[in-house]
Amino acid sequence: MPINVTALTAADIPGAVKAIQCSMPRQQSSNLFHVVDPLQISESKNEPRLLEKPFTQFNTQRNAASLGIRCRWGMRNGIFHVAKEEGSDQVLGVACWLRPQKADKPRSWNDWLEDWKLWLNQVSMNLYYGRGGLIMKRYYIWKEAQARAQSSVWTDPRGYYFLNIMVVVPEAQGKGVGRQMMKAVTDQADTEGMNCYLESSRDKPNMQIYGRFGFQFAKELKCDDDGTAINLFAMVREPNASPQDN
Ligand SMILES: CC(C)(COP(=O)(O)OP(=O)(O)OC[C@H]1O[C@@H](n2cnc3c(N)ncnc32)[C@H](O)[C@@H]1OP(=O)(O)O)[C@@H](O)C(=O)NCCC(=O)NCCS
Repeated sequence: MPINVTALTAADIPGAVKAIQCSMPRQQSSNLFHVVDPLQISESKNEPRLLEKPFTQFNTQRNAASLGIRCRWGMRNGIFHVAKEEGSDQVLGVACWLRPQKADKPRSWNDWLEDWKLWLNQVSMNLYYGRGGLIMKRYYIWKEAQARAQSSVWTDPRGYYFLNIMVVVPEAQGKGVGRQMMKAVTDQADTEGMNCYLESSRDKPNMQIYGRFGFQFAKELKCDDDGTAINLFAMVREPNASPQDN
C-alpha cells in the first residue's frame, strides 16, 4: 500500500489521537509502574508520558483531550508527522520529534510562552475533567533517571533529534509504515550530520526494530519506586548509521 507521511494538521488530530490510544499497551496491575509508553505524549509540561494510574482509572475522553492539547503543542514546537494510506484519511501512524537544542543555547521567550500555554490548557482540562493521569512520585523518579542518562549519553553540543512518540496502529504494524515515518526525519538528520535519540519502553522487539533504523543501545534507565521498577532503553543513531544489532 502506498503510504504518505505528512505534517500533522488540525484535521488529523482526532485520527492521530485514536491511533495513539489504540496502539498503547496498557497494564492493569495497580502495583506496577503503569508504563503506557514513554515515547508517547505526556499530561505534564513538555514531557513524554511515563507513569499513569491503573487502567481501571483510565478516562479515555480525558486522555483524548490531553493528547489533543499535546498534538497542537507538537504542531507548533516539534516535527509531528502522520502516516496515511494514499487516498485515505485514516491515520495509521504518528511520530513526533523534538528538534535538536544546542546545549549552550538559553531558552527563548517563545519556548517559555509555549510552556505556559501548554500548562494553562492542561489546567483548563483538569478543571473540566478533574485531576487524573500521572503518578507524580514515579514521574519524578523517571525524570531523574532521564536527566542522568541524557547527561552521559548526549555528548554532542549541537543537540539531538529526539523521537518523542512513534506508534503504528496494530493492523498496520510490520508493513514498513514505521520505517517511512522514521526516514522522514533521519534523512534530514543525515543531511545535516546530526544525531538522533530515543528512549524505548521495551527491549524486545523495539530495540531490534530501532536497530534496523540505525539506533544503537546506549544506556539503561532504571526507575525504581521502592522495589517497583521499570527499565527504559536510551538509544542513539549517528548520521548515516547502518542497521545495528541490539
Ligand atoms: C515500533 C513500531 C512504531 C514500528 O513500526 P512498524 O511499522 O511496525 O515497523 P516497520 O514495519 O516499518 O519495521 C521496521 C523494521 O523493523 C523490523 N521489525 C518489525 N517488527 C519486528 C519485530 N517484531 N521484531 C524484529 N524486527 C521487526 C522490520 O523487519 C523492519 O526492518 P527492515 O525494514 O530492515 O526489514 C510499531 O510496531 C508500534 O507502534 N508498536 C507498538 C507501540 C510501540 O511499542 N511504540 C514504540 C514505543 S518505544
